[in-house]
Amino acid sequence: MPDSSPISAPITTIDSIGKHEGASVTLRGWLYNLRESGKLLFPIFRDGTGIIQGVAHKAGVSAELFEALKGLTQESSVIVTGKVRADKRAHGGYELDIEALQVVQRISEEDPYPITPKDHGVEFLMERRHLWVRSNRQAAILRIRAEIMRAAAEYFDTNGFIRTDPPILTPAACEGTSTLFPVDYFGEEAFLTQSGQLYIESTALALGKVYSFGPTFRAEKSKTRRHLTEFWMIEPEVAYCDLDGLLELAENFLSHIVQCVLKNRRPELEAIGRDVTKLEAIQAPFPRLSYDKAAEMLNQAHKDGILENPFEYGNDFGSPDETWLSNQFDRPVMVHRYPADVKAFYMQPDPENPRYAMCVDVLAPEGYGEIIGGSQRVDSYELLKSRIEAHNLPMDAFQWYLDLRRYGSVPHSGFGMGIERAVAWICGLDHVRETIPFARTLNRIFP
Ligand code: 4AD
Ligand code: MG
Repeated sequence: MPDSSPISAPITTIDSIGKHEGASVTLRGWLYNLRESGKLLFPIFRDGTGIIQGVAHKAGVSAELFEALKGLTQESSVIVTGKVRADKRAHGGYELDIEALQVVQRISEEDPYPITPKDHGVEFLMERRHLWVRSNRQAAILRIRAEIMRAAAEYFDTNGFIRTDPPILTPAACEGTSTLFPVDYFGEEAFLTQSGQLYIESTALALGKVYSFGPTFRAEKSKTRRHLTEFWMIEPEVAYCDLDGLLELAENFLSHIVQCVLKNRRPELEAIGRDVTKLEAIQAPFPRLSYDKAAEMLNQAHKDGILENPFEYGNDFGSPDETWLSNQFDRPVMVHRYPADVKAFYMQPDPENPRYAMCVDVLAPEGYGEIIGGSQRVDSYELLKSRIEAHNLPMDAFQWYLDLRRYGSVPHSGFGMGIERAVAWICGLDHVRETIPFARTLNRIFP
């Protein structure tokens, strides 16, 4: 192994290299790519925090170092020392004049790294997702995802919410019986949770303002660019909160997340080519639109020849409807008061017209569709019981949930935001499969 690192330079990371301008530093990472131009070598290194281009001139470094660099293969692991030089044209604003190199593992030409800089198909990449996450674009998306999750939790943590974790193994459905994943629980049938909502309704009545944040599961049998079978959801639930209060919470929460990403992950947004001016517009308040008004808009769009199919009043919006609707606004639009028939059993009816549910779907702009679903909850014992019956849900499994209406029931509301939908929108991705390290979909549970 060629080791030509006599210089002891401080170890740092690419994201903080600017602090070392003019000085020698050591980076621990991998060779991302190597370009040769005559007597010059331009290796690009990555270290998990970013990428940086190195420069080595044949006349400027030892023959041993030049040869070691020249023979490097893509994704070989290396510890590299060099002097930091500001360069406006460089990715990240800095380049590294290479002084020393230690090769930790050199990948042999016989078994090269399978993902090359050329274009690969998505299926090829998804099969190699465990390696694909190393690409600059995928790593940038994962850093943005982490910031979205951090900012989302921060919003609740700093606004008086207590995090309470609902169970993942559950005895009953929350979001309809058609997407349940059954589990054999010591001979009894149980399910992976579809949402923590029912349980955090309980903790909201104990603690006032709560949230949960964890994986949720839906056996979605359809292949769409918005559906995963395993996804992460963050859900607030608030006692003594009505639908209006929930809409305010949703718009402030989303604005906070987007503004944090702009502040803390701007280089990543730029690296993936996101138009940040679209995100800069995401400031509360957001437009509110009743279901009826949305239906009117969709029908008009159909009459005008913009939408192929007429919208059938009373249905939930289809994907093309949501896409078109959300495209009409420069910030998320909050569609409220859907017909109760197309929504979940636990939603409070509108006191002004019980045919409507006191619910909201927040549709992200630029055609992204639903990222948040929520509602005020039924607080009457009698009504909830009749809803459970009408939806053919097992009454026994819901006795504990009915207790919340037996003992000190109050108006309360909450919503759930799917992290992957939010990441797809904020990153401007056309499919959720790139928003999570290892996507689980109808036909993928590998790697
Ligand atoms: O609208 P949903 O089904 O609402 C609930 O689960 C409520 N119990 C939440 C609550 O009120 N506490 O799901 C909420 C959000 C959706 O808006 C969407 O962002 C995401 O979860 N989601 C999915 N994301 C990826 N793949 C799927 N299959 C998803 N299903 C829902
Ligand atoms: Mg929904």
